[in-house]
Amino acid sequence: METEIINISKSNYKEEIYNKLKMYYKNNKLVAIPTETVYGLSADAESDEAVEKIYIAKGRPSDNPLIVHFYKMEQLDDIVDCSDKRVEKLIENFWPGPMTLILNLKNNNKISKKVTAGLNTLAIRMPSNKTAREILRKTKVLLAAPSANTSGKPSPTKFEHVYHDLNRKIDVIIEDKPSDIGLESTVIDCTRKPLVIARPGEITKEDIENVLGIGSVKYNDEVIGETKVPIAPGMKYRHYSPEAELILYNDSFENLVDLLNKKNKKTGFITYKNKELFVENLNVSVKYLADNEKDIEQSNKNLYNILREFDNEKVEEIYILPIEKTKETVALLNRLNKAISKN
Ligand code: TXA
Ligand code: MG
Repeated sequence: METEIINISKSNYKEEIYNKLKMYYKNNKLVAIPTETVYGLSADAESDEAVEKIYIAKGRPSDNPLIVHFYKMEQLDDIVDCSDKRVEKLIENFWPGPMTLILNLKNNNKISKKVTAGLNTLAIRMPSNKTAREILRKTKVLLAAPSANTSGKPSPTKFEHVYHDLNRKIDVIIEDKPSDIGLESTVIDCTRKPLVIARPGEITKEDIENVLGIGSVKYNDEVIGETKVPIAPGMKYRHYSPEAELILYNDSFENLVDLLNKKNKKTGFITYKNKELFVENLNVSVKYLADNEKDIEQSNKNLYNILREFDNEKVEEIYILPIEKTKETVALLNRLNKAISKN
């Protein structure tokens, strides 16, 4: 089955497309959609059959639960408990946007048990991407959507990435511009006190503390010893990995050319545009994360695309300069370290 490609923003028949998508969702079809973080692979969150298909298309372990996407709070009335004051404040400040909240499910909710992999909590997110919001608003379907990549590969930040991984495996891809942010949403477990950041993202610990106060939130790895289980089941799997081996380059720029040019493997190097001079004599594939180290937004946006470009070039080893740990680089380093450790 060839996957249908639809570009809503370029179409003169938008209403027809939304009607068609609604019908597709009701027929348990899989539709890849853009979001501001990464592209998502969406299906009707109330249908066991549709959700099952998501796991199969991605090759995702069935014990790794999915995020449900929605567009207005009333849709959650019978589904999750949002009564916690901390939750109200987070919602007020960060939705729509790149924040996912883990909340307690209400009894008799209609969400497929396959979405939550049997947990009694649900991860939910109100995306800000215009196309995603319009699809949610016009179809009125609650959409379960993990990132639209093959499980274990870097998340898709461009239409082409989705096509590469999932063409012929899913029904539709909505073609749109590259994702604005480029890393997955911040996942916050709101069933705990203090709150726990299960996966760091664009919304930082400091952003949350600015709203809820110092000490209101911890990182997953600060509590992992206490709870003994990873809070986001997905964090235990190998993630974000290119085919090539990703290696931290800890040596000096003086030794760079000497070391890398001698490699008899196809090699890549990731650096910043302002280091151009150092790499001019390098005869390996060089890619720039951003203009300079300070441009974290650009780095986040480019990372997965760069890893995928190296894969396309069949590079076997990728070297990357160490990135300084700051408030803003927590999410980037989290994804990089996962790609480096390959576990
Ligand atoms: O930005 C994003 O969040 C993207 C876009 C498409 O919205 N989605 C995304 O989904 O990254 P996914 O499935 O690739 O990652 C969801 C993460 C996984 O680590 C999963 O284990 C965790 O959220 N998660 C989902 N439901 C959970 C729950 N009830 N309790 C704990 N963790 C949960
Ligand atoms: Mg994912």
